Amino acid sequence: MTILVTGGAGYIGSHTALALLEAGYSVVVLDNLANASRESLARVEALAERTLTFVEGDIRDRGVLDRLLNEHEFSAVIHFAGLKAVGESVSQPLGYYENNVSGTVTLCQAMQAAGVFKLVFSSSATVYGDEHPMPLHEGLPTGKPTNPYGRSKLMVEEVLQDLAHSDTRWSIARLRYFNPVGAHESGQIGEDPQGIPNNLLPYVAQVAVGRRDCLAVYGSDYATPDGTGVRDYIHVMDLAEGHLCALNTLLNNKNDCYTWNLGTGQGYSVLEVIDAFERASGVTIPYRIESRRPGDVATCWSDPTLAERELVWKAKRDLTTMMVDTWRWQQRNPQGYR
Ligand code: NAD
Ligand code: UD1
Repeated sequence: MTILVTGGAGYIGSHTALALLEAGYSVVVLDNLANASRESLARVEALAERTLTFVEGDIRDRGVLDRLLNEHEFSAVIHFAGLKAVGESVSQPLGYYENNVSGTVTLCQAMQAAGVFKLVFSSSATVYGDEHPMPLHEGLPTGKPTNPYGRSKLMVEEVLQDLAHSDTRWSIARLRYFNPVGAHESGQIGEDPQGIPNNLLPYVAQVAVGRRDCLAVYGSDYATPDGTGVRDYIHVMDLAEGHLCALNTLLNNKNDCYTWNLGTGQGYSVLEVIDAFERASGVTIPYRIESRRPGDVATCWSDPTLAERELVWKAKRDLTTMMVDTWRWQQRNPQGYR
């Protein structure tokens, strides 16, 4: 079976492409390399000891999509391609709506024209907004995301729901990721943000390897046990395996628009993450407390029981493994893929 993976050269896409190859699928990656390098896929091929097909192109380009969808007999599409920097989405909202919303609409139009009706979509816990008590379960109404990035994810979720209702041939999985971290255990592929990292773990790892001086901890006055923000960190390989389970479910079940949380169900504070990283790496992370980052919530963690039951999937890797694997990747690749 052949799977089209949009955005497959990126962080989560490359780990999922590896899991797909190892499970015996053929993989075609479409990526415009806006936030990735071709090197990630060279390493995926080396690890899998199998080749994949890479096409440099854009999901907004209907011509490229039509050609690809005609050339290959795809069983499904896993759709990672999109922009994800929250701050940038505030200053460039049109770019985010064009890439994330219009790009997905164009992809779905091309899939429909080619008769491919199975789609796995990368959504985010951000669609819950900040009005619910923890843990977050799929039965809760979606909330009001605080930025254009989050709104673009919510808009796409709604587009996909309408699509599945409009035509019973569609089977769609909307996967709400919590906080993906870590790297493949080989240390060969991992997260390689361009510029100053926005997210906690890449920043910590770059401090540890000497690329940054000091971590800013955004807020120590939240209503949490130690005052710092609490999140549900999930190992990227657990996430990748969750995609294979979702794919399997789509391939074997009737038409529907499914929503599954992919998280561990366990929250950790910023200070707990720093401590776990220090223990895993043996490196001290200098940090200073700063004021809260606009748009941050105090706590965010999942109820993962629906995915456990319906996908027969459960995140297996603990916080220590997430830190060990992050550090192995960063230590072996201090400048990422460059
Ligand atoms: P990433 O930036 O590493 O990967 C996205 C990939 O899409 C990149 O390789 C980029 O070059 C490509 N891309 C962007 N726009 C494109 C376009 N128009 N056409 C073709 N390719 C394009 O990000 P990631 O962390 O791997 O995230 C993958 C998906 O998961 C994204 O949709 C993201 O919004 C979503 N997500 C990520 C997180 C997270 O914390 N990493 C959390 C929730 C949801
Ligand atoms: C952020 C985005 C979310 C997106 C996710 C993955 C916001 C408000 N939310 O989630 O929409 O889906 O990234 O891209 O930006 N922290 C520090 N110092 C840092 C970085 C982070 O203290 O340098 C803290 C944050 O305040 C938070 C925790 O670490 O408490 C995790 O932050 P981060 O990794 O950015 O993820 P989220 O904010 O959960």
